Parts: sequence; structure tokens; C-alpha cells
Amino acid sequence: MTEPILEFEDVNIKYRTRGDSDVHAVNNASFTIGEHEYFGLVGESGCGKSTIADSVVGGLDDNGEVVSGKIKFKGKEIQDFSEKQFNKEIRWKEISVIPQSSMNSLDPVMKLSDQAIEMAKYHTDLSKREAVDRLRELFDVVGIPESRIHNYPHQFSGGMQQRTIIAFSLFLQPSLIIADEPTTALDVIMQDQILDYINALKDDWDVSMLMITHDISIVFENCDTMAVMHGGQMAESGSVVDVFDRPRHPYSILLQNAFPDIRYPDRELAVIEGHPPQLTEVPDYCTFADRCPWATAECYDGAPEPVDVGGGDDHRAWCVHADEMETLAAEHLSTSRNATNILEEAHE
Ligand SMILES: Nc1ncnc2c1ncn2[C@@H]1O[C@H](COP(=O)(O)OP(=O)(O)OP(=O)(O)O)[C@@H](O)[C@H]1O
Ligand SMILES: [Mg+2]
Repeated sequence: MTEPILEFEDVNIKYRTRGDSDVHAVNNASFTIGEHEYFGLVGESGCGKSTIADSVVGGLDDNGEVVSGKIKFKGKEIQDFSEKQFNKEIRWKEISVIPQSSMNSLDPVMKLSDQAIEMAKYHTDLSKREAVDRLRELFDVVGIPESRIHNYPHQFSGGMQQRTIIAFSLFLQPSLIIADEPTTALDVIMQDQILDYINALKDDWDVSMLMITHDISIVFENCDTMAVMHGGQMAESGSVVDVFDRPRHPYSILLQNAFPDIRYPDRELAVIEGHPPQLTEVPDYCTFADRCPWATAECYDGAPEPVDVGGGDDHRAWCVHADEMETLAAEHLSTSRNATNILEEAHE
């Protein structure tokens, strides 16, 4: 791996609620994104993906809190940064976020061109004209007529606002872009166009990506490394090829059957029976155990620790049975439908 740009070390995040039951949304999450790496984070709705994204830029809802663990950006701990510190040192310039819903991300009372000028004034040496030209270029990329740069956000449709946010997130060439379901609200043609552009960015500048989605085919086609989450816990992480071809966590193994099939690109992850538990307490068990065909008493005895499952670098599964899964799940582990084959099929 290249030098790490973002590191999560045993991070716990909870939301306080009015009752006495908090929501322990993220528990002991650990992963690393290297410089110049595109990292995909997948998992069912509610598993904690956006919570992770928001925590990186101090953007958790007011009742949310990083309870423990370390979040490091370029080696520096940022989990205790104040909003002011985030705004001054991190947001937009170092890390930009394409949020899951863009509705509230643009200043409603400012023309978009003026927002670009403000951003440039605060963070760069660009002149007003250069700032506006840059926005123009980016509008072209995201498919909005350049003439509309002087509009106000409310003059745009939801999809156009989403594309505007994407344009702004690229504006200062940050070193990390966090894209939380960046294209879900867009039509398929626009989705492809934006993903192609996001993919091509790598060639232009040293950018890394945390891409969050429940569409695994997007991860498959755009990312180098990935993690699968389930019920507020990490399940498996590693290179995209390792996780797709040699899954070692029961959840990823069962998902393998639903893994990207180019013929059904929109197929989602929710193909496994049952639901993750409500996390009103820190789970001291594997949150997948109730849904797992291979669960034993041990799975309820403590939260799972990561196990190195060999193969490529940093391929890990948070499962007490990780080392036995290849045998236990032999009949589920297909050898024919692997990542390499699927990619070849796709390009035929
Ligand atoms: N402000 C909040 N207060 C209380 N609970 C919250 C809050 N925000 C999120 N949660 C809960 O935290 C858990 C994780 O939510 P999160 O939004 O991170 O999930 P997600 O993986 O991004 O889901 P999706 O795929 O639907 O976007 C869920 O149980 C959710 O209900
Ligand atoms: Mg989300």
C-alpha cells in the first residue's frame, strides 16, 4: 500500500437519543485508505456508512459523537477537531464530501458563481475570473450548461444540485474525496458519465476516494480496495479482487452470489434473510451471527476481532471462524464466477 491518507483505528461512534437507548452506529471500525487509492465501503442500509463519512469531516449530526478510537488524516489525529478547525484545515481543501443528499449543502442565498469566488478567495490564489472559469469547466464535466453558473441553487432540480455539489467537491482539488452514494439520485447515463470522470481524476492529480454505495458493481468497477460492513461492525476488508474472489466473512460469502453481475447492475445487497440487530448497546457479539448459517456459541461471546486471511496484503475478516470458512462454506464459494472472469465478460 502507498502511504496512508485516512486511517480509522478502533473507532466507536454513537448517537444520543431522547430515550435512554443510544444508537451505537459504528463499533470498533478500523480501515486504512492509501494515497491515490479508491476505497469502496459497502453494506446494507443503516449499517453505519454515512456515519463513518460524516465523522471524517466533523459533519456528524449534533447528537452524534466519536466516543473512542482514532481518525487520522495524513497521520494527524482529527477525531477531536472543532468545527472551526475542520473548516480551516480540512473541509473542501483537503477533504471534500459529496453527501448522500445534497439538498442542504449549497448556500441558498448566494449565486453559484459567487460561492465559487468565495471558496477560491478563502482557500486559493485564484482571481475572481479564474474561479468562475474553473466552475464553468466543472459544470461542463457534470453536464450543466455553463450559462447557469450565475443561478441560485433553488433554480436547479435535485439532480442538478447533486451535480453542482460534485462540481464544488472537485473545485479545490482535495486529496481525499468522500462520495456518499454520489450518483444514486441521478439517471443511469449521468451516473456513468460522472463515475467515468471520477475514475479519470486519478490520472490528473493525487486524489484518493472513499466511495460509499450499496451498489457493489460500482465498487467493483471503480475501486482498488474495499470494506464490507454489517450492523455497525466491519465484516471484511482487502483488495477488491480478494474480497470478491476469496471472501472469508460469511456475509461476504453469501453476498458473493449477488456480486456484480453486469447483466443486473442495479442489484442491491439485501439478499440475505433477516435483519441486523438494533444497536442500543455496544454489541459484544457478532451482529451477523443471527443471520449466519455457520454461527456457533462463540460468535455471541465478544465482538469479533480482525483475522488476517492471507492471500493479498491486508485482507482481513472480522469473524472467529474466518480461518475455517474456506472449508465450512466450500459449496458456496464458486470458483467460476470470480472478479477476473466477470470483468472479462463485461468487456467482451
Ligand atoms: N442523528 C441520528 N440520531 C440517531 N440515530 C441515527 C442518526 N443518524 C443515523 N442514525 C442511525 O445510525 C445507524 C447508521 O446510520 P447511517 O446513516 O450511518 O447508515 P448508512 O449505512 O449510511 O445507511 P444508508 O445506506 O441507508 O444510507 C442507523 O441505525 C441510523 O438509524
Ligand atoms: Mg447513508
